[in-house]
Amino acid sequence: MRAFVAGATGYTGRELVRVLRERGHEVSAHVRPDSPALARWQAEFGALGADVDTPAWEPAALAATHACSQPTHVFALLGTTRHRMRAEGTERNSYEAVDYGLTALLLGATRTAAPHARFIYLSAMGASEQGNAYMKVRGRLERDLRASGLSWIAARPAFVTGPDREERRVLERLASRAIDGVLRTLAMVGVRAPARRYASLSGSALARALASLAADAPDGVQDAAALRAAAERVSRR
Ligand SMILES: NC(=O)c1ccc[n+]([C@@H]2O[C@H](COP(=O)([O-])OP(=O)(O)OC[C@H]3O[C@@H](n4cnc5c(N)ncnc54)[C@H](OP(=O)(O)O)[C@@H]3O)[C@@H](O)[C@H]2O)c1
Repeated sequence: MRAFVAGATGYTGRELVRVLRERGHEVSAHVRPDSPALARWQAEFGALGADVDTPAWEPAALAATHACSQPTHVFALLGTTRHRMRAEGTERNSYEAVDYGLTALLLGATRTAAPHARFIYLSAMGASEQGNAYMKVRGRLERDLRASGLSWIAARPAFVTGPDREERRVLERLASRAIDGVLRTLAMVGVRAPARRYASLSGSALARALASLAADAPDGVQDAAALRAAAERVSRR
């Protein structure tokens, strides 16, 4: 694989870079050129043997990067949060601008400059054009993927979290712990199916699943249970 990872600096993205490198793949980790943490990521990704790519979020810049490196797999793991919207303003940080806009831009650049690449999109459980703002943009992007003519996978996890997440996401952690607790109790009395579907996944488990499914799953949506099963298969190897 020659992988291009957008969202490489995120909780899931950085694990994906690590997992892909452990498997011996070539990796370009995208870091936005104005990132205040660019030096940190150059050091961390460099130590893993990954390249750091810093094209601006513009169609021509991304297409030029793809034309040069010809990735076989393009991973889109981008997303903003309500916290960031409040802190940094919504003009450049809305679900529309980031989760949809930047991902669609990457999809367009891939179609133009690396049309044989497989596009792996980190969506979310419940993605639907009829849902709330967060779900709607994911539903729309999945529609674009289907129409893109590219080979594609859309991964739909439930909560993605764990004690190793640097960012404090108090409500997300509390909600996922409460849900995981109920699911564990159900599993203890023999009702295991809900846990397979709804229990949270760590960034590293999700990264293992994405790397594995990107390599050999058929095109289409991978739901939360399929992601968990893929992560477990890889850990057993
Ligand atoms: N957390 C969950 O429970 C959950 C569940 C299902 C699906 N998902 C989805 O999975 C995806 C990844 O989640 P995650 O928790 O791993 O993400 P994360 O840690 O929040 O990382 C987000 C990534 O998006 C980039 N990004 C955000 N705003 C940007 C902007 N304005 N311009 C350029 N880049 C920007 C960040 O880059 P910088 O580091 O440069 O800011 C970072 O690489 C998201 O789409 C998320 O919605 C999450």
